[in-house]
Parts: sequence; structure tokens; C-alpha cells
Amino acid sequence: MSRMKFPEGFIWGAATSSQQIEGATGEGGRGESIWDRFSAVSGKIEDGSNSDIACDHFHRWRDDIELMKWLGLGAYRFSIAWPRIIPTGTGLVNAAGLDFYDSLVDGLLEAGIEPFPTLYHWDLPQVLQDKGGWAARDTAEAFVEYSAAVARRLGDRVKRWVTHNEPWCIATLGHEEGHHAPGHLDPPEALRVAHHLLLSHGWATEAIRREVANAEVGIVHNYCPAYSATDSEGDRDAARWFDGFFNRWYLDPVFKGAYPADAVADRVAAGHLDSPDMPFVKDGDMAAISTPLEFLGINYYSRNVMEAGPDGKPRDAKTVPKEELTDMGWEVYPEGLYDSLMRVHNEYGPKKIYIAENGAAYDYPIDAEGRIADTKRVSYLHDHFLNARRAMADGAPLAGFFVWSLMDNFEWGFGFTKRFGLYCVDFETQQRIPKDSAFWYREVTAANAVDDAFAPTTQGESRAFDG
Ligand code: FCB
Repeated sequence: MSRMKFPEGFIWGAATSSQQIEGATGEGGRGESIWDRFSAVSGKIEDGSNSDIACDHFHRWRDDIELMKWLGLGAYRFSIAWPRIIPTGTGLVNAAGLDFYDSLVDGLLEAGIEPFPTLYHWDLPQVLQDKGGWAARDTAEAFVEYSAAVARRLGDRVKRWVTHNEPWCIATLGHEEGHHAPGHLDPPEALRVAHHLLLSHGWATEAIRREVANAEVGIVHNYCPAYSATDSEGDRDAARWFDGFFNRWYLDPVFKGAYPADAVADRVAAGHLDSPDMPFVKDGDMAAISTPLEFLGINYYSRNVMEAGPDGKPRDAKTVPKEELTDMGWEVYPEGLYDSLMRVHNEYGPKKIYIAENGAAYDYPIDAEGRIADTKRVSYLHDHFLNARRAMADGAPLAGFFVWSLMDNFEWGFGFTKRFGLYCVDFETQQRIPKDSAFWYREVTAANAVDDAFAPTTQGESRAFDG
């Protein structure tokens, strides 16, 4: 067995988001978010839960920083809740909201952990949804105002900024398929939403740069590589279709200043657009969207294998037996991370890439000794780390890796039924318990290296949790 070293300065991190961990939705002057509203609708969240308390991080953030310290994190990716900062969407800034993140940033810096905030991880103020949400161009303007207020306050200490997390999820899951807030089923609206998200990203990038000296700004995209089930023309076209719909729709505007023509044609054919010239794209928009970035964040979880269905329409080929899937029903396919990094590097050439999220949902019991032996999660992370390392050796400019997630949390429409954490959270007592993956990750961050072969029996040598 040999050690695969990572370059000096490589950032090992963990990620969370405001709506999923903070709780305290009615405290500190916070306004209502679209996820508060959506969760209150019966049937929208699998276990009928909501994130009113979640991990109670709003009150426990000091202890949570200790958990990060114990892991040896170099950076912590969290998100800022817009409804805490500007509860009314636009206008008056809520000082208590800014104070919360200000203290968090100071606490992280004292612990030697770089704060790596995301401005929008899906918790839009409900008041803005009432005025049309992301389908309205005004929301893009409101986002710039909000971003500038946060950057002005934290920019003396925070240098790396993410504008949006996963625009595809917001547009498609939120506005086309209805699984996420605001729960719409309106494909034409989803395309307007996607455009306004991208536009607001470009505008906010400029606003952050005005407020923060030496800022590095990026956007986080959930990249899902598409493979064709067979070499048939139909299956290959199904993979092309998925790639256009999921990946290129977001990456092409940001890096090439244009929507991908074939994917636009697919949307016209589907009746989601009247014509290829999209009326919601105004003069200057594409230039704003493609403002050069310091980095790109990639969230990678799985791949899609596509085929042409009997009706010729593209569909998921469902090639993987159920028992090899994570609790999300996602295939474990670490090689896809290598392929994704190489593709993004070769086709889009970002200056720097971060894996902004990667991890797996598995539910493991606590044994009699209080141990959570989440072997599959360790194996999942191990294999993804190695594939990241391999892509780096082949030239991908990867600068850091954030595990999703620091702790179990509110997994959107799945409520608390899916556990992604390095730390288990007992949602009754709010106790945090390190899983084997936390012990293992701690060894990785300390060594800045991963063994090339995975040997679950040797993991967790230092089992004492003194965090
Ligand atoms: C990503 C989200 C994150 C979490 C993981 C499992 O799509 O960014 O909030 O839900 O998936």
C-alpha cells in the first residue's frame, strides 16, 4: 500500500448550508424563506418535518467549530441565509443577521479555518417569491443588493465567495419538477429562472469585487456526467441531451457566454421555448454572465447512464442494482469524478476548481460501544479522493475538496431521512457523534494524503474523540 500525497496547501473542507443546519427560523429578525413555506405544505417533505430547529447550529455554532477543528479542516463551506440579512428581500438590512455571520467568521478564523461562504443555497425570502421569485428579473437585482451588503461587512476577512449553489436544482427541481421550493411544475418558467440566476451571478460577482479587495469569486455547479447505455445512435443522443440539459446549460453561459445551441433546440422541440431567441435574454446579459471567475466549484455525487426509451425519448437506463446505490438511490461511481474534472478542465478551462460537495447518504446504527462504523461512507470518500488526485496528476487545477456534509442535517424534500454527515446528529438531543468516517477523514487531513488501497480494518486507529 502506498500513500497518495496531495500538494501542499490543498484545502480539505466540509460543507453545510443555512436552511439545512441553522434552525432558529424565527430568531434574530430572520424573515420567512421559501423552504419554510414549502415545508409547511403537507406531503412536500417525506417525514413531514421542517427545518425550524434542524441542527440548531444558530445556537451551537461555537461547538460546531470545535468539531471542524477536531477534523483538521482547512476551510468550511457554509451558506448565508438571505432572509436573515434582508428579511424583506430588498431594503433594510437586519444588523442581527449580519452579526451572526460576522461572529461565525471570526470564530472560524480564530480556529485557523478559512470561511468559504455561499450567498445563495436556496433559501429565498418568501416576500420575493410572492413577487415572482427567480422568474422575475427584479430578483436578480435584489440578489446584488443583498450580496453587496454581505460582502461589505465580511469582505475584510472573507476572500473566497460563491454566488450560487447548483442553479440546475433551483430551476429544475424547484420550478419544473416541483420537488423543491417553490414547488412549481412549469418548464418555461424554469428556463427564465435559470437565466435570472446566472445573470444575478454575473452581476453579484462584479458587486463583490467592488466591495472586497482581492476577492476570488466562483459559482458552484452540480456536475453529473452522462454516459450512453450502448453505442447506439439513440442512446448516444440521449446522453448528449442530458448533458445539455444538466451541465452545459449552466457551464456554457458562464464560460463561453452563450447557451448551447443543441440544448436550446431540444427545449424548443419540447415546447418549453417558443423560439431559440429567448426573450428574457436582454442585451448585455451574456457578457455579464460570462465575467471571468477565479474558480469553479463542482458538486459531484453520481453519474447518469442514458438510453433512448421505446418512444425515442431520453431516459435513465437504470443499469445499477438497487443494493449498490446509496440511500439517495444514487450509483456510486468514483471514476465519474475523474471524468468530470477532466471534461470541465479541458472544455471550460477554469483557473481553479474546488470540489464544493461530495459525499454519500448511508444510515448506520450506533453500536453498543457508541461507534458508528460507516464503512461504505469511508470507502466512498476514499475512492473519490483518489480519483480527484488522479485528475490533478493529469492537469486538472483542483485546489480543495469539501465533504458533504459536516453533520447530518435537513435533506430538503427528504427531511431527516437521509444522513450525509461525518458527524451523526441525534435530532432529539442535538448530540453530535463522530462516525468512523470522521475519524478517517481526520487522518487524511493530518497526513494530506490517502492510501491508494482502501483497507477498512486499519481505519480509525486514533478512536479517541477529544473534540
Ligand atoms: C446537493 C445540495 C446539498 C445537499 C446535497 C446532498 O444537491 O447542494 O444541499 O442536499 O445535494
